[in-house]
Amino acid sequence: MQEKATTIQSLFESLKANEDLTKKNPCLLKGWVRTNRSSKAIGFLEVNDGSCFKSIQVVYDEKLANFAEVGHILTGACVAVRGEIVLTPEMKQPFELHASEVELLGDVAEDYPLQKKRMSLEYLREIAPMRPRTNTFNALYRVRSKLALAVHEYFQSNGFVYVHTPEITSNDAEGAGQTFTVITDAKDPINDFYGRKVSLTVSGQLHVEPFALSFGKVYTFGPTFRAEKSNTTRHASEFWMIEPEIAFADLSDDMDVMEDSIKFCIRYILANCPDEMKFFDTFIAKGTIEKLEAVLAKPFVRMSYTEGIERLKEAVKKGHPFENKNIEWGMDLQSEHERYLTEEVVKGPMFLTDYPKEIKAFYMKENADGKTVAAADCLVPGEGEIIGGSQREDNYDVLKAKMDKLGNTEGLEWYLNLRKWGGCVHSGFGIGFDRLLMYITGVANIRDTEPYPRTSSNLKY
Ligand code: 4AD
Ligand code: MG
Repeated sequence: MQEKATTIQSLFESLKANEDLTKKNPCLLKGWVRTNRSSKAIGFLEVNDGSCFKSIQVVYDEKLANFAEVGHILTGACVAVRGEIVLTPEMKQPFELHASEVELLGDVAEDYPLQKKRMSLEYLREIAPMRPRTNTFNALYRVRSKLALAVHEYFQSNGFVYVHTPEITSNDAEGAGQTFTVITDAKDPINDFYGRKVSLTVSGQLHVEPFALSFGKVYTFGPTFRAEKSNTTRHASEFWMIEPEIAFADLSDDMDVMEDSIKFCIRYILANCPDEMKFFDTFIAKGTIEKLEAVLAKPFVRMSYTEGIERLKEAVKKGHPFENKNIEWGMDLQSEHERYLTEEVVKGPMFLTDYPKEIKAFYMKENADGKTVAAADCLVPGEGEIIGGSQREDNYDVLKAKMDKLGNTEGLEWYLNLRKWGGCVHSGFGIGFDRLLMYITGVANIRDTEPYPRTSSNLKY
């Protein structure tokens, strides 16, 4: 068995609780060297053990039997340090570790790809497995982990049941034709393993709806896959989605939950990841914390698609430089249009509602006007859409006619039948988890929010 080390996180916890840190002496720490500065008689190692964003300063001197060797320890090396915690309230860091023993657990070879100086995010993307050793990704992946916890905390504490929907499916839930086919024998995909054509899921929604009509409130939270060729900063071919589904809720109730859950997650991260958020605010996107606090302070604006189109037409008249200036009711909005509405008109998060039925998915509730559906996308400055949601079509005949027209009824009879086996008004939505993380941290590229991002023509690790 390996000897258990103290973590830097636990030291800071004790400090916060006003405990006497020196009672923890002698102290053993294990971690990775960020920097090593040494002179003739004394040296300083900055060691990060991954337990929290902060590192610890290790002070060593000639008393070490291996002083000369320790002086040569390189950035990235793995070390175990034994010593005494010494409080340093007058210094930048509140305590340091005075080493009585430094053991090199894992040396680094010359080809270690991380440097002490600041490296570009593009460069770091090429060495994804080593990114977590950097400050930026140490902060990012920790916030990612906490954000997942925030999601579960919010939905579980509000009575939602967590459902694991399948990753392998025979349906294309969004009907957008962006599925990845799953095969074991490429020669005959139809008569393969399942005896039918199957793919990786694009959304757990269809599978989670029956659970909403049994438990009332449910959510699924897992990876989803889309053969999305769009090479943008916001599209990945594998991403995580949170999909709540609520019985006895219409679109307005649905938007209430969208807004409440997003605000909860923001509040949670601001409260639980202060060091990480301060880092993003300083080095990644200045003003991020202020932006998030402003989001918490105001209700999200709700605007209909039809009004959005009017606003966009006005903008074109005033000479706004859209790439696509052909604004027509019925069009699918481009990211530049969504961003104009959320950034220039609303200046904050908003819901755009009641889209033309032709540009939205088949399962959305048709409005009384016969032209639009009860859908709401949540748009945020800097990004555009982070949530897509809708009230579901609960009228059997209307839904059947739509599905028959699309030709996707076969295999989805169970989904259609929900409308005649105790159906009710129900709604749900899908939050792009990676996009939410981008919004909260200010990180501008989805490739920098996922540990191993997958985008078209790009799968290195
Ligand atoms: O708007 P979408 O396609 O909606 C659905 O999938 C519904 N079934 C959700 C539901 O009602 N249960 O996707 C939902 C969200 C988008 O708003 C976006 O944030 C994210 O998923 N998303 C992507 N994120 C990263 N890369 C992609 N290629 C994405 N496609 C969608
Ligand atoms: Mg959408």
